[in-house]
Amino acid sequence: MLDIHSHFLPKMDDGSKSTEMSMEMLRSSRKQGVRTIVSTSHFYGTEESPESFLRRRKHAVNKLLPLLSDSEPEILLGAEVFYYPGISRSEAIPQLAIEGTDLVMIEMPFITWSDRIFDELISLQYNHRLHIVLAHVERYQKLQKRDMYAQLFEQPFYFQCNASAFTSFRSRRLALRLLDNGQLHFLGTDCHNTDKRPPNMEEARSVIEKKLSPGVWRRLRREMIDRFDSHKL
Ligand SMILES: [Fe+2]
Repeated sequence: MLDIHSHFLPKMDDGSKSTEMSMEMLRSSRKQGVRTIVSTSHFYGTEESPESFLRRRKHAVNKLLPLLSDSEPEILLGAEVFYYPGISRSEAIPQLAIEGTDLVMIEMPFITWSDRIFDELISLQYNHRLHIVLAHVERYQKLQKRDMYAQLFEQPFYFQCNASAFTSFRSRRLALRLLDNGQLHFLGTDCHNTDKRPPNMEEARSVIEKKLSPGVWRRLRREMIDRFDSHKL
């Protein structure tokens, strides 16, 4: 299983608070069947330079490297890049793509969206030859007008849902519908720690197997890997 969204790097953002917590998160992920985990620490382009972010990320991952063994998943480095106007013209964005791929994870702003935002993201894809993975798309239902939210799923991006989308009563219907429609391209845990937001892939598996079928879970797992591999450079 691939977990494309996580915050396990120690002291990088609001995720893991220590190397011990990071290792616990990684081991728990591995026990839940995660073989590859992508680190997607928050990146806010209006507050920090990409160089500073990449330096901090290197420092954080270097603290973990000596501790890793076969009991943890393979680690790939990326970022969760928060949208800002003008992002499509930033030369630095390709450096924030998921290691070894042309995939970049974008976090949509928590405002009511306009067409301009979609246009900017399409320019970002086109200018840098990247493919966007939109993070936790289930989160924005309340903020958007119904037609604008529907428009999201017509955009040429990949859509990622958090595992918790399947366990939360508020988002379960949407997550199951996206999965059923073939519009859930990636599932991620967005794990931040070991208590309030722990690795929870197992919980999503359980809901999907129960509400749909074990076959649907197996297919999702396989399709995610194939999709991810098709973007390797
Ligand atoms: Fe996240």
